[in-house]
Amino acid sequence: MRVAVIGAGVIGLSTAQCIYDRYHSTVSPLTIEVYADRYTPLTTSDGAAGLWQPYNYDGNIQHNKWNKETFDYILSWVNSPDSIKMGIFTQSGYNLLSEPAPDPKWRDYVLDFRHMTQRELQMFPGYSYGWFTTTLMIEGQRYLPWLMERLKERGVIFYQKTIGSFRELMNTGVDVIVNCTGVRSGELQPDPDLRAGRGQIVKVDAPWIKHFILTHDLESGVYNSPYIIPGSSLVTLGGIFQVGNWSEENNSRDHQNVWEEACKLVPSLKHARIMNDWSGLRPVRSKVRLERETLHNGAAKCEVIHNYGHGGFGLTIHWGCAMEAANLFGEIVEQKGRRPLSRL
Ligand code: FAD
Ligand code: BEZ
Repeated sequence: MRVAVIGAGVIGLSTAQCIYDRYHSTVSPLTIEVYADRYTPLTTSDGAAGLWQPYNYDGNIQHNKWNKETFDYILSWVNSPDSIKMGIFTQSGYNLLSEPAPDPKWRDYVLDFRHMTQRELQMFPGYSYGWFTTTLMIEGQRYLPWLMERLKERGVIFYQKTIGSFRELMNTGVDVIVNCTGVRSGELQPDPDLRAGRGQIVKVDAPWIKHFILTHDLESGVYNSPYIIPGSSLVTLGGIFQVGNWSEENNSRDHQNVWEEACKLVPSLKHARIMNDWSGLRPVRSKVRLERETLHNGAAKCEVIHNYGHGGFGLTIHWGCAMEAANLFGEIVEQKGRRPLSRL
């Protein structure tokens, strides 16, 4: 069977890996091809801070399951020799709120979750409530090359190409298309539910910052709250979330805003060296689109598995979604086994 995955962000690469590992065998070999116009380090997944935490948490039951599966999967690797190459490690930090809020469902998924003490809260004037948690980091700039290396070892072929339509791939005779095109999925099939959630982050050199700090503005409902996330080499300052803004250009006003808000939160940051800015688009959707669709082209048919719309939580949820996409692939394999190929 020939499978074409469109997209080489964390979703496309992990889905390709999961499908290969579960369904390739010498008896029924799979040819997997990946098509993308951006590869690591140029995807949104590379720019993400990489913190495992359901951002702008919506409590969707399906999402909870996939988030947990991803946490458990990454945790199973975290103490392995590969962890450095994978860009994964444990990380602790604070979630700051201005009023009490119910505990999130993910409290039971992370390694540690507790309410902040008064002494801890005193470090952050203006915040009266919070959680201290120990979670995981999955840094795209390392994780994506690691995934690509594993896929190359398995014979997966990579094409640098913009795909204009599903039909373009159907015409080459592929059996299954896996759509992992993130925020640009609307270019292949209109989706009014999919919007860009623009973010801009500032990377700084501040090795004394050891804990992440996420702030939440529950009252305004606007997700433009500052955060500080130390990574393996630099610290990410962020908090910009502009729904409907499709610009990938850095903006000096946003830069100033991110920098000033971060310095208000942790004043020692004013001594940090600013390294660079990056802007990217979160694929915002009311829920992840993870489903099958049969496309027709004259007498020919092709199965498409959609896996996109992971908002500000693509690294957090990717493996659970990859496994679900592989389940859908399994259904297709089973049906193809039952019916002559020409009828599928
Ligand atoms: P992408 O990484 O954007 O990959 C899409 C792929 O599709 C690319 O390879 C692209 O070239 C390809 N493509 C699209 N259309 C076509 C086409 N027509 N033809 C060919 N190729 C095509 N998430 C977290 O879990 N933790 C975080 O800490 C975190 N921080 C973030 C910080 C910021 C500032 C932003 C913007 C996002 C953050 N996210 C975070 C969210 C995360 O980055 C996204 O959810 C995730 O990257 C989406 O992955 P993806 O593979 O769907 O998309
Ligand atoms: C973000 O989308 O900016 C983000 C996601 C998860 C954790 C922190 C930030």
